[in-house]
Amino acid sequence: MLLVTGASGQLGSRIHAGLVAAGLPVLAGSRTPGAFGAAGRLLDLDDPATLDLTGVGVLVLVSAGYAEDDVVLARHDRVLTAAERQGVGHVVYTSLTGAGDHLGFALAHRWTERRLARSGLRWTVLRNGLYAELFGQLAAPQDGVVTAPFGTGALAAVARQDLADVAVRVAADVATDPDAHVGRVYELAGTTAFTAAQLARAWGAEHRPVTLGAQRAALAGLHLLPFQPAMLMSMYSTVAAGLLAGTGSDLPDLLAHPPRDALATAVAAGAPGPV
Ligand SMILES: NC(=O)c1ccc[n+]([C@@H]2O[C@H](COP(=O)([O-])OP(=O)(O)OC[C@H]3O[C@@H](n4cnc5c(N)ncnc54)[C@H](OP(=O)(O)O)[C@@H]3O)[C@@H](O)[C@H]2O)c1
Repeated sequence: MLLVTGASGQLGSRIHAGLVAAGLPVLAGSRTPGAFGAAGRLLDLDDPATLDLTGVGVLVLVSAGYAEDDVVLARHDRVLTAAERQGVGHVVYTSLTGAGDHLGFALAHRWTERRLARSGLRWTVLRNGLYAELFGQLAAPQDGVVTAPFGTGALAAVARQDLADVAVRVAADVATDPDAHVGRVYELAGTTAFTAAQLARAWGAEHRPVTLGAQRAALAGLHLLPFQPAMLMSMYSTVAAGLLAGTGSDLPDLLAHPPRDALATAVAAGAPGPV
């Protein structure tokens, strides 16, 4: 039996659907499992009482980010401790591209990779590149102008569906061959890199990026969660510095099809809606 965590999320739902389509027995672990019927299993990484992994051979652990590091570390530690105690055979963890070490949310991913390495579990790490959809949304034009401070830096973004397809491939391989992908760390950045200026051109918008300081000041005026401004600023500055432009990737080797057009995916995600 396989189990996907975060199964209601945008990545987790795609992975779960892919494993179902592949005809594999798979549970949907979620804080809101009702939508999955009999396949749903209540799983809240903040609540140890819900961490029942009985009968799970392959756990696809979708990172539960979007919180302070101490919260994310505790979530991941809880579920990996439960996996160790309950005899899970293999954990497939969705991590972050190695080029992303300067991102604010990298720490929780690197900690989890180390936690896996010192566990008694078999594991595979999928170091996901930044989502093309996220790049498009962050760069989306306001009143015909792209102001996001990505500078001239390019980003090797990747379509979420490609990352889900890789996770499905790896989890399915592991389900049929316990020795497959053991101890492997796959780098899954996109295979093409593109800039906010290219996105602006595709949207027919002007590209007039503000400074990082101006953006930080603007974020301070929004009602964001306390951890969010630092997380967002790290994305702007890391892309602007060109540190996420590398396109060396295991993606083509793990996909059964050519990588999706990440630029088109980003353009669609950030396209101005109908007025
Ligand atoms: N590569 C990138 O560009 C990038 C960018 C941002 C974030 N990420 C990471 O990738 C993950 C998946 O991305 P996404 O786009 O699918 O995000 P998403 O749509 O926001 O889904 C995140 C899912 O995390 C699960 N989650 C949150 N708190 C949880 C908890 N306490 N216990 C169990 N599950 C919890 C939830 O699943 P349920 O609702 O089913 O419980 C939620 O739907 C994120 O959580 C984050 O760690 C990656």
